Amino acid sequence: MTTTPATTEVGSYFISNYPPFSLWTADQTPQAVAALDTDPASAADTPLGLYIHIPFCRKRCRFCYFRVYTNQNAKSIEDYVQALIRELELLSERQAIGARPLRFVYFGGGTPSYLSSRQLRSLRERMGQYISWDNAEEVTFECEPGTLSLEKLETLRDIGITRVSLGVESFNDKILEENGRAHLSPEVFRAWEWIRSVGFPQANIDLIAGMIGETDENWHRNIDLALEMAPDNITIYQMELPFNTVISKEMRESGIESPVADWPTKRRWVSEAFDRLLAAGYHISSGNELVRNPEQDHFVYRDQVWRGCDLLATGVSSFGHFQGVHYQNLDRIEDYMAAVNEGHLPINRALQPSGQQLLIRELVLLMKEGTVDLSRIDQKYGVDTLTQFAEPFRNQQQAGYLELDGRTIKLTRKGLLQVDSLLPEYFEPEHRAVRYT
Ligand SMILES: C[S@@+](CC[C@H](N)C(=O)[O-])C[C@H]1O[C@@H](n2cnc3c(N)ncnc32)[C@H](O)[C@@H]1O
Repeated sequence: MTTTPATTEVGSYFISNYPPFSLWTADQTPQAVAALDTDPASAADTPLGLYIHIPFCRKRCRFCYFRVYTNQNAKSIEDYVQALIRELELLSERQAIGARPLRFVYFGGGTPSYLSSRQLRSLRERMGQYISWDNAEEVTFECEPGTLSLEKLETLRDIGITRVSLGVESFNDKILEENGRAHLSPEVFRAWEWIRSVGFPQANIDLIAGMIGETDENWHRNIDLALEMAPDNITIYQMELPFNTVISKEMRESGIESPVADWPTKRRWVSEAFDRLLAAGYHISSGNELVRNPEQDHFVYRDQVWRGCDLLATGVSSFGHFQGVHYQNLDRIEDYMAAVNEGHLPINRALQPSGQQLLIRELVLLMKEGTVDLSRIDQKYGVDTLTQFAEPFRNQQQAGYLELDGRTIKLTRKGLLQVDSLLPEYFEPEHRAVRYT
Protein backbone atom coordinates (compact mmCIF):
# COMPACT_ATOMS: atom_id res chain seq x y z
CA MET A 1 0.00 0.00 0.00
CA THR A 2 1.12 3.54 -0.64
CA THR A 3 1.28 5.69 2.43
CA THR A 4 1.13 9.45 2.57
CA PRO A 5 3.47 11.21 4.99
CA ALA A 6 1.50 13.20 7.53
CA THR A 7 3.15 16.56 6.88
CA THR A 8 2.48 18.69 3.81
CA GLU A 9 5.97 18.02 2.50
CA VAL A 10 7.41 19.43 -0.70
CA GLY A 11 6.54 17.22 -3.63
CA SER A 12 3.06 15.99 -2.75
CA TYR A 13 0.69 16.05 -5.69
CA PHE A 14 -2.76 15.89 -7.25
CA ILE A 15 -3.08 13.27 -10.00
CA SER A 16 -4.58 14.51 -13.24
CA ASN A 17 -3.09 12.17 -15.82
CA TYR A 18 -1.34 8.87 -16.50
CA PRO A 19 1.38 7.90 -17.33
CA PRO A 20 3.14 10.58 -15.26
CA PHE A 21 4.20 13.76 -17.07
CA SER A 22 7.87 13.16 -16.28
CA LEU A 23 7.84 10.28 -18.78
CA TRP A 24 6.63 12.34 -21.72
CA THR A 25 9.51 13.00 -24.11
CA ALA A 26 10.54 15.30 -26.93
CA ASP A 27 11.21 12.39 -29.25
CA GLN A 28 7.55 11.37 -29.16
CA THR A 29 6.26 14.74 -30.43
CA PRO A 30 6.02 13.41 -34.03
CA GLN A 31 3.35 10.97 -32.75
CA ALA A 32 1.32 13.93 -31.43
CA VAL A 33 1.61 15.74 -34.74
CA ALA A 34 0.67 12.58 -36.63
CA ALA A 35 -2.40 12.20 -34.41
CA LEU A 36 -3.54 15.66 -35.47
CA ASP A 37 -3.46 14.40 -39.03
CA THR A 38 -5.48 11.22 -38.59
CA ASP A 39 -8.50 10.66 -40.78
CA PRO A 40 -11.22 13.03 -39.51
CA ALA A 41 -13.82 10.31 -40.03
CA SER A 42 -12.14 8.04 -37.46
CA ALA A 43 -11.96 10.91 -34.94
CA ALA A 44 -15.51 12.11 -35.51
CA ASP A 45 -17.08 10.11 -32.66
CA THR A 46 -14.71 11.42 -30.00
CA PRO A 47 -15.86 14.56 -28.17
CA LEU A 48 -13.51 17.48 -28.78
CA GLY A 49 -12.58 20.20 -26.28
CA LEU A 50 -10.23 23.16 -26.24
CA TYR A 51 -8.02 24.36 -23.37
CA ILE A 52 -6.62 27.90 -23.57
CA HIS A 53 -3.89 28.87 -21.09
CA ILE A 54 -3.63 32.53 -20.05
CA PRO A 55 -0.40 32.62 -18.02
CA PHE A 56 -0.67 36.13 -16.55
CA CYS A 57 -1.47 37.09 -12.96
CA ARG A 58 -1.45 40.29 -10.94
CA LYS A 59 0.68 38.54 -8.35
CA ARG A 60 2.15 35.07 -7.86
CA CYS A 61 0.45 33.18 -5.01
CA ARG A 62 3.03 31.73 -2.64
CA PHE A 63 1.49 28.27 -3.12
CA CYS A 64 1.09 28.43 -6.91
CA TYR A 65 2.76 25.76 -9.06
CA PHE A 66 1.40 26.78 -12.45
CA ARG A 67 3.26 28.48 -15.31
CA VAL A 68 2.45 32.16 -14.67
CA TYR A 69 4.03 35.54 -15.36
CA THR A 70 3.45 38.76 -13.42
CA ASN A 71 4.22 42.39 -14.31
CA GLN A 72 3.44 42.05 -18.01
CA ASN A 73 2.55 45.13 -20.02
CA ALA A 74 -0.33 45.46 -22.48
CA LYS A 75 2.00 44.90 -25.42
CA SER A 76 3.31 41.54 -24.22
CA ILE A 77 -0.22 40.40 -23.45
CA GLU A 78 -1.39 41.42 -26.90
CA ASP A 79 1.57 39.55 -28.44
CA TYR A 80 0.59 36.46 -26.48
CA VAL A 81 -3.06 36.67 -27.54
CA GLN A 82 -1.85 37.04 -31.12
CA ALA A 83 0.27 33.89 -30.69
CA LEU A 84 -2.78 31.99 -29.37
CA ILE A 85 -4.72 32.95 -32.49
CA ARG A 86 -1.82 31.86 -34.67
CA GLU A 87 -1.68 28.54 -32.81
CA LEU A 88 -5.39 28.00 -33.42
CA GLU A 89 -4.85 28.77 -37.08
CA LEU A 90 -2.05 26.16 -37.21
CA LEU A 91 -4.28 23.62 -35.46
CA SER A 92 -7.23 24.31 -37.74
CA GLU A 93 -5.05 23.41 -40.71
CA ARG A 94 -4.48 19.88 -39.38
CA GLN A 95 -6.59 17.26 -41.03
CA ALA A 96 -8.14 15.71 -37.91
CA ILE A 97 -9.65 18.99 -36.68
CA GLY A 98 -11.48 20.09 -39.82
CA ALA A 99 -15.01 21.08 -39.00
CA ARG A 100 -15.32 18.99 -35.82
CA PRO A 101 -17.48 20.94 -33.38
CA LEU A 102 -16.13 21.90 -29.96
CA ARG A 103 -18.06 20.29 -27.14
CA PHE A 104 -16.44 22.50 -24.49
CA VAL A 105 -13.83 25.20 -24.01
CA TYR A 106 -11.81 25.94 -20.85
CA PHE A 107 -9.89 29.16 -20.20
CA GLY A 108 -7.40 28.41 -17.44
CA GLY A 109 -4.36 30.02 -15.96
CA GLY A 110 -2.82 31.92 -14.56
CA THR A 111 -5.67 34.33 -14.66
CA PRO A 112 -7.80 34.52 -17.80
CA SER A 113 -9.72 37.42 -16.20
CA TYR A 114 -6.48 39.42 -16.25
CA LEU A 115 -7.32 40.15 -19.93
CA SER A 116 -9.24 43.36 -20.54
CA SER A 117 -12.73 43.40 -22.03
CA ARG A 118 -11.29 44.74 -25.24
CA GLN A 119 -8.75 41.92 -25.42
CA LEU A 120 -11.43 39.34 -24.65
CA ARG A 121 -13.79 40.56 -27.37
CA SER A 122 -10.96 40.70 -29.85
CA LEU A 123 -9.72 37.22 -28.88
CA ARG A 124 -13.19 35.79 -29.35
CA GLU A 125 -13.64 37.46 -32.70
CA ARG A 126 -10.26 36.42 -34.05
CA MET A 127 -10.61 32.86 -32.74
CA GLY A 128 -13.88 32.61 -34.62
CA GLN A 129 -12.00 32.70 -37.91
CA TYR A 130 -10.52 29.28 -37.14
CA ILE A 131 -12.69 27.46 -34.66
CA SER A 132 -16.23 27.90 -33.39
CA TRP A 133 -17.55 27.40 -29.89
CA ASP A 134 -21.04 28.58 -30.82
CA ASN A 135 -22.57 25.19 -30.08
CA ALA A 136 -20.33 24.18 -27.19
CA GLU A 137 -22.15 22.81 -24.13
CA GLU A 138 -19.86 24.66 -21.75
CA VAL A 139 -17.29 27.46 -21.92
CA THR A 140 -15.49 27.88 -18.58
CA PHE A 141 -13.47 30.88 -17.52
CA GLU A 142 -11.25 31.14 -14.40
CA CYS A 143 -11.42 34.48 -12.61
CA GLU A 144 -9.42 36.18 -9.88
CA PRO A 145 -11.92 38.32 -7.89
CA GLY A 146 -9.88 41.53 -7.98
CA THR A 147 -9.63 41.56 -11.79
CA LEU A 148 -13.40 41.60 -12.34
CA SER A 149 -15.79 44.46 -13.02
CA LEU A 150 -19.45 44.44 -13.97
CA GLU A 151 -18.47 45.45 -17.46
CA LYS A 152 -15.94 42.61 -17.80
CA LEU A 153 -18.50 40.08 -16.63
CA GLU A 154 -20.98 41.40 -19.19
CA THR A 155 -18.27 40.93 -21.79
CA LEU A 156 -17.78 37.34 -20.63
CA ARG A 157 -21.48 36.67 -21.00
CA ASP A 158 -21.53 38.34 -24.44
CA ILE A 159 -18.64 36.28 -25.78
CA GLY A 160 -20.37 33.07 -24.70
CA ILE A 161 -18.90 32.08 -21.33
CA THR A 162 -21.33 29.69 -19.61
CA ARG A 163 -19.37 28.84 -16.47
CA VAL A 164 -17.35 31.22 -14.34
CA SER A 165 -14.99 29.90 -11.73
CA LEU A 166 -13.98 32.30 -8.98
CA GLY A 167 -10.73 31.75 -7.07
CA VAL A 168 -11.92 32.69 -3.58
CA GLU A 169 -9.53 30.36 -1.67
CA SER A 170 -10.36 31.97 1.71
CA PHE A 171 -12.53 34.76 3.08
CA ASN A 172 -9.96 35.85 5.65
CA ASP A 173 -7.95 38.89 4.57
CA LYS A 174 -4.99 38.16 6.80
CA ILE A 175 -4.76 34.63 5.38
CA LEU A 176 -5.20 35.86 1.82
CA GLU A 177 -2.36 38.32 2.32
CA GLU A 178 -0.08 35.86 4.04
CA ASN A 179 -0.50 33.41 1.18
CA GLY A 180 0.31 36.03 -1.43
CA ARG A 181 -3.13 36.27 -3.01
CA ALA A 182 -3.76 39.40 -5.07
CA HIS A 183 -7.32 39.88 -3.78
CA LEU A 184 -9.06 40.55 -0.45
CA SER A 185 -12.51 39.41 0.69
CA PRO A 186 -14.49 42.59 -0.21
CA GLU A 187 -13.51 41.96 -3.82
CA VAL A 188 -15.02 38.46 -3.60
CA PHE A 189 -18.40 39.73 -2.40
CA ARG A 190 -18.47 42.52 -4.95
CA ALA A 191 -17.52 40.17 -7.80
CA TRP A 192 -20.14 37.66 -6.67
CA GLU A 193 -22.93 40.24 -6.84
CA TRP A 194 -21.91 41.10 -10.39
CA ILE A 195 -21.68 37.42 -11.37
CA ARG A 196 -25.20 36.85 -10.05
CA SER A 197 -26.60 39.99 -11.66
CA VAL A 198 -25.15 39.10 -15.06
CA GLY A 199 -26.40 35.53 -14.64
CA PHE A 200 -24.23 32.66 -15.85
CA PRO A 201 -25.66 29.15 -16.18
CA GLN A 202 -22.95 27.87 -13.83
CA ALA A 203 -20.83 29.61 -11.20
CA ASN A 204 -18.16 27.86 -9.15
CA ILE A 205 -15.98 28.99 -6.28
CA ASP A 206 -12.59 27.51 -5.37
CA LEU A 207 -11.53 27.16 -1.74
CA ILE A 208 -8.31 25.72 -0.35
CA ALA A 209 -8.17 23.71 2.87
CA GLY A 210 -4.78 24.34 4.45
CA MET A 211 -3.83 27.89 3.52
CA ILE A 212 -0.98 29.16 5.72
CA GLY A 213 -2.58 30.45 8.94
CA GLU A 214 -5.77 28.35 8.67
CA THR A 215 -7.55 27.45 11.91
CA ASP A 216 -10.60 25.32 12.74
CA GLU A 217 -12.63 28.36 13.55
CA ASN A 218 -11.71 30.24 10.40
CA TRP A 219 -12.26 27.19 8.21
CA HIS A 220 -15.80 26.79 9.52
CA ARG A 221 -16.42 30.47 8.88
CA ASN A 222 -15.19 29.95 5.30
CA ILE A 223 -17.77 27.23 4.77
CA ASP A 224 -20.56 29.36 6.27
CA LEU A 225 -19.69 32.22 3.93
CA ALA A 226 -19.43 29.87 0.93
CA LEU A 227 -22.91 28.61 1.78
CA GLU A 228 -24.27 32.13 1.94
CA MET A 229 -22.98 32.70 -1.59
CA ALA A 230 -24.79 29.52 -2.70
CA PRO A 231 -22.69 28.76 -5.80
CA ASP A 232 -23.78 25.98 -8.15
CA ASN A 233 -20.45 24.23 -7.65
CA ILE A 234 -17.95 24.42 -4.78
CA THR A 235 -14.42 23.15 -5.33
CA ILE A 236 -12.27 22.45 -2.28
CA TYR A 237 -8.61 21.67 -2.88
CA GLN A 238 -6.30 20.40 -0.17
CA MET A 239 -3.21 22.62 -0.19
CA GLU A 240 -0.31 20.84 -1.82
CA LEU A 241 3.26 21.98 -2.20
CA PRO A 242 4.96 20.69 -5.33
CA PHE A 243 8.62 21.66 -5.82
CA ASN A 244 8.06 24.85 -7.77
CA THR A 245 6.04 26.91 -5.29
CA VAL A 246 7.55 29.89 -3.45
CA ILE A 247 6.79 28.17 -0.14
CA SER A 248 8.60 24.97 -1.20
CA LYS A 249 11.63 27.00 -2.24
CA GLU A 250 11.71 28.78 1.12
CA MET A 251 11.39 25.46 2.92
CA ARG A 252 14.33 24.03 1.01
CA GLU A 253 16.52 27.10 1.36
CA SER A 254 16.03 27.89 5.00
CA GLY A 255 15.21 24.42 6.26
CA ILE A 256 11.95 25.67 7.82
CA GLU A 257 9.16 23.26 8.60
CA SER A 258 6.06 23.22 6.44
CA PRO A 259 3.88 26.22 7.33
CA VAL A 260 0.85 24.31 6.09
CA ALA A 261 -1.39 22.00 8.14
CA ASP A 262 -0.66 18.28 7.93
CA TRP A 263 -2.67 15.94 5.69
CA PRO A 264 -4.90 14.47 8.43
CA THR A 265 -5.93 18.02 9.43
CA LYS A 266 -6.66 19.05 5.83
CA ARG A 267 -8.71 15.90 5.29
CA ARG A 268 -10.64 16.56 8.47
CA TRP A 269 -11.38 20.10 7.31
CA VAL A 270 -12.62 18.84 3.93
CA SER A 271 -14.69 16.17 5.65
CA GLU A 272 -16.27 18.76 7.95
CA ALA A 273 -16.98 20.94 4.92
CA PHE A 274 -18.61 17.95 3.19
CA ASP A 275 -20.85 17.33 6.22
CA ARG A 276 -21.89 20.94 6.44
CA LEU A 277 -22.54 21.26 2.70
CA LEU A 278 -24.38 17.94 2.50
CA ALA A 279 -26.62 19.06 5.33
CA ALA A 280 -27.34 22.25 3.36
CA GLY A 281 -28.44 20.24 0.31
CA TYR A 282 -25.25 20.00 -1.72
CA HIS A 283 -24.13 16.70 -3.29
CA ILE A 284 -20.58 15.37 -3.56
CA SER A 285 -19.53 15.16 -7.21
CA SER A 286 -15.86 14.26 -6.68
CA GLY A 287 -13.21 14.26 -3.97
CA ASN A 288 -12.89 18.02 -4.59
CA GLU A 289 -16.30 19.16 -5.68
CA LEU A 290 -19.86 19.55 -4.52
CA VAL A 291 -22.84 20.65 -6.58
CA ARG A 292 -26.18 22.09 -5.60
CA ASN A 293 -28.21 20.28 -8.22
CA PRO A 294 -26.72 17.09 -9.70
CA GLU A 295 -29.32 17.06 -12.49
CA GLN A 296 -28.17 20.34 -13.95
CA ASP A 297 -24.79 21.24 -12.44
CA HIS A 298 -22.52 19.35 -14.79
CA PHE A 299 -18.86 20.08 -15.29
CA VAL A 300 -18.45 19.01 -18.89
CA TYR A 301 -14.71 19.73 -19.02
CA ARG A 302 -13.92 17.41 -16.10
CA ASP A 303 -16.36 14.71 -17.15
CA GLN A 304 -15.04 14.60 -20.71
CA VAL A 305 -11.33 14.91 -19.95
CA TRP A 306 -11.48 12.16 -17.34
CA ARG A 307 -13.27 9.89 -19.83
CA GLY A 308 -10.62 10.29 -22.50
CA CYS A 309 -11.97 12.91 -24.93
CA ASP A 310 -9.74 14.75 -27.40
CA LEU A 311 -8.45 17.97 -25.83
CA LEU A 312 -6.63 20.54 -27.91
CA ALA A 313 -4.12 22.32 -25.69
CA THR A 314 -3.26 25.88 -26.60
CA GLY A 315 -0.96 28.36 -24.92
CA VAL A 316 2.30 28.02 -23.08
CA SER A 317 2.78 24.76 -21.10
CA SER A 318 -0.74 23.44 -21.80
CA PHE A 319 -1.50 19.74 -21.65
CA GLY A 320 -3.60 18.04 -24.29
CA HIS A 321 -4.61 14.66 -25.59
CA PHE A 322 -5.43 13.89 -29.16
CA GLN A 323 -6.47 10.60 -30.77
CA GLY A 324 -4.58 8.46 -28.29
CA VAL A 325 -1.53 10.68 -27.77
CA HIS A 326 -0.74 12.87 -24.73
CA TYR A 327 1.18 16.05 -25.38
CA GLN A 328 2.36 19.24 -23.73
CA ASN A 329 3.29 22.59 -25.25
CA LEU A 330 6.62 24.35 -24.72
CA ASP A 331 6.68 25.64 -21.18
CA ARG A 332 8.59 28.92 -21.46
CA ILE A 333 6.73 31.81 -22.99
CA GLU A 334 9.67 32.93 -25.19
CA ASP A 335 10.01 29.44 -26.71
CA TYR A 336 6.28 29.09 -27.17
CA MET A 337 5.96 32.46 -28.92
CA ALA A 338 8.99 31.83 -31.13
CA ALA A 339 7.70 28.44 -32.31
CA VAL A 340 4.22 29.70 -33.10
CA ASN A 341 5.48 32.83 -34.83
CA GLU A 342 7.70 30.66 -37.03
CA GLY A 343 4.63 28.65 -38.01
CA HIS A 344 5.36 25.50 -35.96
CA LEU A 345 3.05 23.74 -33.56
CA PRO A 346 4.62 24.51 -30.15
CA ILE A 347 4.57 20.93 -28.86
CA ASN A 348 7.41 20.14 -26.46
CA ARG A 349 6.88 16.57 -25.29
CA ALA A 350 4.47 13.74 -25.85
CA LEU A 351 3.69 10.18 -24.99
CA GLN A 352 1.62 7.60 -26.80
CA PRO A 353 0.09 5.49 -24.04
CA SER A 354 -0.57 1.81 -24.59
CA GLY A 355 -4.17 0.57 -24.41
CA GLN A 356 -3.44 -0.69 -20.90
CA GLN A 357 -2.19 2.75 -19.87
CA LEU A 358 -5.31 4.44 -21.26
CA LEU A 359 -7.41 2.01 -19.26
CA ILE A 360 -5.45 2.79 -16.07
CA ARG A 361 -5.77 6.51 -16.76
CA GLU A 362 -9.54 6.34 -17.08
CA LEU A 363 -9.97 4.06 -14.06
CA VAL A 364 -7.88 6.21 -11.71
CA LEU A 365 -9.35 9.52 -12.85
CA LEU A 366 -12.89 8.18 -12.43
CA MET A 367 -12.03 6.97 -8.95
CA LYS A 368 -11.63 10.66 -8.12
CA GLU A 369 -15.38 11.00 -8.75
CA GLY A 370 -16.04 8.52 -5.95
CA THR A 371 -18.10 5.99 -7.94
CA VAL A 372 -16.92 3.95 -10.92
CA ASP A 373 -19.08 1.77 -13.13
CA LEU A 374 -16.56 -0.94 -14.00
CA SER A 375 -18.82 -2.61 -16.56
CA ARG A 376 -18.67 0.48 -18.77
CA ILE A 377 -14.86 0.48 -18.57
CA ASP A 378 -14.70 -3.27 -19.22
CA GLN A 379 -16.82 -2.87 -22.30
CA LYS A 380 -14.86 0.09 -23.60
CA TYR A 381 -11.45 -1.57 -23.17
CA GLY A 382 -12.43 -5.23 -23.57
CA VAL A 383 -11.04 -6.20 -20.16
CA ASP A 384 -12.15 -7.56 -16.81
CA THR A 385 -11.07 -4.89 -14.33
CA LEU A 386 -12.29 -6.81 -11.29
CA THR A 387 -9.81 -9.58 -12.07
CA GLN A 388 -7.04 -7.38 -13.38
CA PHE A 389 -7.03 -5.03 -10.40
CA ALA A 390 -8.20 -7.60 -7.85
CA GLU A 391 -5.24 -6.95 -5.56
CA PRO A 392 -5.47 -3.16 -5.14
CA PHE A 393 -9.28 -3.40 -4.93
CA ARG A 394 -8.96 -6.00 -2.17
CA ASN A 395 -6.24 -4.08 -0.30
CA GLN A 396 -8.14 -0.83 -0.43
CA GLN A 397 -11.41 -2.49 0.49
CA GLN A 398 -9.79 -4.11 3.52
CA ALA A 399 -8.25 -0.79 4.52
CA GLY A 400 -11.69 0.86 4.38
CA TYR A 401 -11.03 3.09 1.37
CA LEU A 402 -13.61 1.59 -0.98
CA GLU A 403 -16.53 -0.78 -1.29
CA LEU A 404 -17.48 -3.03 -4.18
CA ASP A 405 -21.12 -3.37 -5.09
CA GLY A 406 -21.32 -5.83 -7.99
CA ARG A 407 -19.28 -4.12 -10.68
CA THR A 408 -19.51 -0.67 -9.13
CA ILE A 409 -16.73 0.75 -6.98
CA LYS A 410 -17.69 3.24 -4.32
CA LEU A 411 -15.07 5.10 -2.40
CA THR A 412 -15.80 5.57 1.27
CA ARG A 413 -15.49 9.07 2.74
CA LYS A 414 -12.07 8.08 4.08
CA GLY A 415 -11.00 6.93 0.59
CA LEU A 416 -12.39 9.95 -1.22
CA LEU A 417 -10.57 12.37 1.09
CA GLN A 418 -7.22 10.92 0.08
CA VAL A 419 -8.01 9.41 -3.28
CA ASP A 420 -4.86 10.76 -4.97
CA SER A 421 -2.68 8.76 -2.61
CA LEU A 422 -4.57 5.55 -3.49
CA LEU A 423 -4.15 5.81 -7.25
CA PRO A 424 -0.48 4.83 -7.75
CA GLU A 425 -1.37 1.31 -6.62
CA TYR A 426 -3.21 0.89 -9.96
CA PHE A 427 -0.23 2.16 -11.96
CA GLU A 428 2.16 -0.15 -13.77
CA PRO A 429 4.92 -1.10 -11.28
CA GLU A 430 7.61 1.04 -12.91
CA HIS A 431 5.42 4.16 -12.56
CA ARG A 432 4.51 3.82 -8.91
CA ALA A 433 7.40 5.81 -7.55
CA VAL A 434 8.44 8.08 -10.42
CA ARG A 435 8.57 11.84 -10.22
CA TYR A 436 5.19 13.05 -11.40
CA THR A 437 5.78 16.35 -13.26
C1 LIG B 1 -4.99 27.46 -11.97
S1 LIG B 1 -5.48 28.22 -10.49
C2 LIG B 1 -6.04 29.74 -11.15
C3 LIG B 1 -6.63 30.70 -10.14
C4 LIG B 1 -6.86 32.13 -10.64
N1 LIG B 1 -5.65 32.71 -11.13
C5 LIG B 1 -7.34 32.99 -9.51
O1 LIG B 1 -6.60 33.86 -9.08
O2 LIG B 1 -8.42 32.78 -9.03
C6 LIG B 1 -6.91 27.29 -10.14
C7 LIG B 1 -7.07 26.85 -8.71
O3 LIG B 1 -6.07 25.95 -8.32
C8 LIG B 1 -6.03 25.92 -6.90
N2 LIG B 1 -4.63 25.83 -6.46
C9 LIG B 1 -3.61 26.58 -6.89
N3 LIG B 1 -2.47 26.25 -6.26
C10 LIG B 1 -2.76 25.24 -5.38
C11 LIG B 1 -2.02 24.47 -4.43
N4 LIG B 1 -0.72 24.65 -4.25
N5 LIG B 1 -2.67 23.51 -3.74
C12 LIG B 1 -3.99 23.33 -3.92
N6 LIG B 1 -4.74 24.01 -4.78
C13 LIG B 1 -4.15 24.97 -5.50
C14 LIG B 1 -6.69 27.21 -6.41
O4 LIG B 1 -7.87 26.91 -5.70
C15 LIG B 1 -6.98 27.96 -7.69
O5 LIG B 1 -8.16 28.71 -7.62
